[in-house]
Amino acid sequence: MEKYIIKGGRRLEGEVTISGAKNAVVAIIPAVILADGPCVLENIPQISDVSITLRMLYEMGAEVTRLGKGTYRIDATRIKDPVVPYELARHIRASYYFLGTLLGKYGRARVSMPGGCYLGDRPIDQHLKAFSSLGASCVLENGMIDICADRLIGSQIYFDKITVGATINAMLAAVKATGLTVIENAAREPHIVDLANFLNSMGADIMGAGTDVIKIRGVRSLKGTSYAIIPDQIEAGTYMAAAAATRGNVLIKNVIPKHLESITAKLAKIGVNVEEFDDSVRVSVDGPLVKTSIKTMPHPGFPTDMQPQMSTLLCLANGTSIVTEEIFNNRFRYVDELRRMGADISVEGRVAVIVGVGRLSGAPVTAPDLRAGAALVIAGLAANGVTEIDDIYHIERGYENLEEKLRGLGADIVKKNVPGVSVRKAVL
Ligand code: EPU
Repeated sequence: MEKYIIKGGRRLEGEVTISGAKNAVVAIIPAVILADGPCVLENIPQISDVSITLRMLYEMGAEVTRLGKGTYRIDATRIKDPVVPYELARHIRASYYFLGTLLGKYGRARVSMPGGCYLGDRPIDQHLKAFSSLGASCVLENGMIDICADRLIGSQIYFDKITVGATINAMLAAVKATGLTVIENAAREPHIVDLANFLNSMGADIMGAGTDVIKIRGVRSLKGTSYAIIPDQIEAGTYMAAAAATRGNVLIKNVIPKHLESITAKLAKIGVNVEEFDDSVRVSVDGPLVKTSIKTMPHPGFPTDMQPQMSTLLCLANGTSIVTEEIFNNRFRYVDELRRMGADISVEGRVAVIVGVGRLSGAPVTAPDLRAGAALVIAGLAANGVTEIDDIYHIERGYENLEEKLRGLGADIVKKNVPGVSVRKAVL
């Protein structure tokens, strides 16, 4: 098992380059199955969710060739059986995108119930509703989801709540259905737009991605394509929060500043300077950090995936901040760990009350999930003394070369092997 050891208290300074977006790439890799030829994908981050997703394709019979750093050629035209290996699928959330893509291509799919971070209830009723609307039948048995359809017919799909995953799955299943599909109350995240752009570059006819109504006119076939994944909005936001927490001065490169607007606006309220350039942002601090309130919302609201990192920053601000989590019902599991480091946070249901303490102190902590783990890294960087973070396989699911990138900014962070078996090692 590996852990991070961080000697805190150093200002982050310099430049860091953001990798491709995890939540776009874990949808786009399965979407390659829909093409009748090979695809070349660029800007693929080297993270364990990607290794597992590529491995799933490989195990199903696809050819996966690494052409260079972050660039892969995938030929998924000879899938033997549209069944995703259970041992791989059950570990990551995005395995459920194989349901939409295999259904869209072969009219049937068998995938285990998805895994991923435990953030509270994560039902998939809206995914199944979308598949049923398109004419598929779905059966859940023995931890597996079986779906099949003789023919997929375009349909009106209204989501009862805004969901990224079900919007993506509906797009994947509808892209080759007969006729028009209209998805209403659709999610609007940047990765939804990225997936639509990718599918359109294969010959799909998708309009409205990025708004709450997406219209998809089914096409008979899709061709192979070359495509570069967008930069990761949440990785960028995490470095922005880390720069602020250490009162540093960091140029964060390869970003789309528009995707960062809600994060930038909150940082500005807290007293952080954020300068925007064409494809980079500079984050610095020269005055006091002050309290604010944050409520997570679907895009373009403040992203739930930045809530733990910003809460950590607010521990270092003057005054009492209120953070309300509106997307998931259990996304404060990092709070106990931050308390070990001296944070003053109380949680009541979906609301955290954070009393700024000015300084945290290093402690041994455990990463409970991906973004919570990133928050603990930020806490460790800003704290006095040494922080040891266990279960970093969670963090490596979504951050490429985290410790190297942080060391490039002057952080004192190392990864250490300790006896024990990590889930990631067992899977890969
Ligand atoms: N929901 C339902 N029914 C459904 C689907 C979702 O009730 O059928 C609920 C969820 O329980 C949740 C809300 O709707 O309360 C939103 O869930 P959503 O479907 O949008 O989330 P997701 O697709 O499971 C993706 C990201 C998460 C990110 C959320 C919200 C991937 C692989 N995961 O999850 O990313 O937090 O959208 O933006 O794209 C992360 O990267 O750390 C992460 C957890």
